[in-house]
Amino acid sequence: ALLMFVDECLQPFRLSVSTLQSVSTRLKKDMIRGLGKHTHHRAPVKMLPTFVRATPDGTEKGDFLALDLGGTNFRVLHVRILEDEQRVVKMDSQICAIPQEIMLGHGEKLFDHIAACLAEFLDSHELKGQTLPLGFTFSFPCEQLDIDKSVLIRWTKGFNCSGVEGEDVVRLLREAIHRRGDYDIGSVAMVNDTVGTMMSCGYRDQSCEIGMIIGTGTNACYMEEMRNVKRVEGEDGRMCINTEWGGFGDDGSLRDIQTDFDLVVDKTSLNPGIHTYEKMISGMYLGEIARLVLVKLTEDKLLFDGQVSDALQTPGRFETRFISEIEDTGLENTQRILTELDLNWSLGDVRLVWLVCDTISTRSAQLCAAALATIANRIRNNRGLDHLKTTVGVDGTVFKKHPNFSQQLQATVRLLAPRCDITFLVSEDGSGKGAAMVTAVAQRLALQPV
Ligand code: BG6
Ligand code: GLC
Repeated sequence: ALLMFVDECLQPFRLSVSTLQSVSTRLKKDMIRGLGKHTHHRAPVKMLPTFVRATPDGTEKGDFLALDLGGTNFRVLHVRILEDEQRVVKMDSQICAIPQEIMLGHGEKLFDHIAACLAEFLDSHELKGQTLPLGFTFSFPCEQLDIDKSVLIRWTKGFNCSGVEGEDVVRLLREAIHRRGDYDIGSVAMVNDTVGTMMSCGYRDQSCEIGMIIGTGTNACYMEEMRNVKRVEGEDGRMCINTEWGGFGDDGSLRDIQTDFDLVVDKTSLNPGIHTYEKMISGMYLGEIARLVLVKLTEDKLLFDGQVSDALQTPGRFETRFISEIEDTGLENTQRILTELDLNWSLGDVRLVWLVCDTISTRSAQLCAAALATIANRIRNNRGLDHLKTTVGVDGTVFKKHPNFSQQLQATVRLLAPRCDITFLVSEDGSGKGAAMVTAVAQRLALQPV
């Protein structure tokens, strides 16, 4: 009987194949709106041109710096690319912490901090005398006017610095470096983390034409036909489009699948009403959804003898990594976590907590699959193919750390895109390498006679 009541509470999280198909159909329409010249302004799925048209051709070479901002860690990197083999011969990287008050403070402080981290890195690697080109992985929605001109549309995830939205991020970075005056950088290429991931996987597998992130946030990019990118001049070839699928549903189109818990997570977030889809899928929010469900079940006396602990009452205390740990092995992890949260658990509770986590992560994987299937089907249609074989480069802690996320995702994509054969390539050392690749390609194209 207990299980029946719990199941009833979890029912809204369970999506049928036909619901997922309907979600995919809605996303398909929104992608077309986002690409349109006259419809993109208010489109929830932004479909941003990236000005990345070519993948590496093997003639790129040189030394590059890279910054990687917006995931769990902020990284500074030095990448050396060897000609012909497209082999990165050397990659040094350093993580630099960003304090919460900087993530929520004034933009100038953020860029001063970034410039200081870069300075420290250059010092310790004896690179300060050189003026190296820089690839900047900046994982937020940006309106790009060119590869080196990128205006932040809005912050997402855990950032909310004032004075940056609507500004050119490259200019803010250069100004911060010039304020210091102790070093300089060369040309800059701006890339979203999905693009960096696609490019870094792209040199291992030439048919990698989708990049996907399921980490703190979620998003994907893919190679679109230029003739469909109405916002950019030109009809020939392809351009990588940053979909910003996290914003899907921001016009209310997913209201039927949002649960009461999703609505609370949205309301209490840094950006209410924004990135509806992301809030049902990504690492920044999954733990909080689970916490809210656990609190509700406890209040309904279905868990922990009806006793909610202060820890469980605290927003953010039930971390997304707990979901992965709980689903990973046996019961010991769950017992340890519940004890840490000061909960008085029974073996029955342990089983129910596992069920809650499994339900929430399964929905996340299935929603991701619906979105990925939409992109794969679109590429197949674009090319008039009966069958598409393609590769997606993937990164992000949810995809990498959760024990069966990837399996669930792949099984659902096969159902929703039966005529697409998708290989998943997990990105190994982050998107910095990809950002360096994009910088290298841009440099090669700039040097080429037109
Ligand atoms: C990293 C990439 O490996 O993964 C970043 O280098 C990306 O660019 C990140 O943002 C996404 O994962 P998470 O879980 O750290 O947000
Ligand atoms: C958020 C950002 C997007 C990024 C994604 C994954 O959705 O808006 O740009 O790619 O997170 O990090």
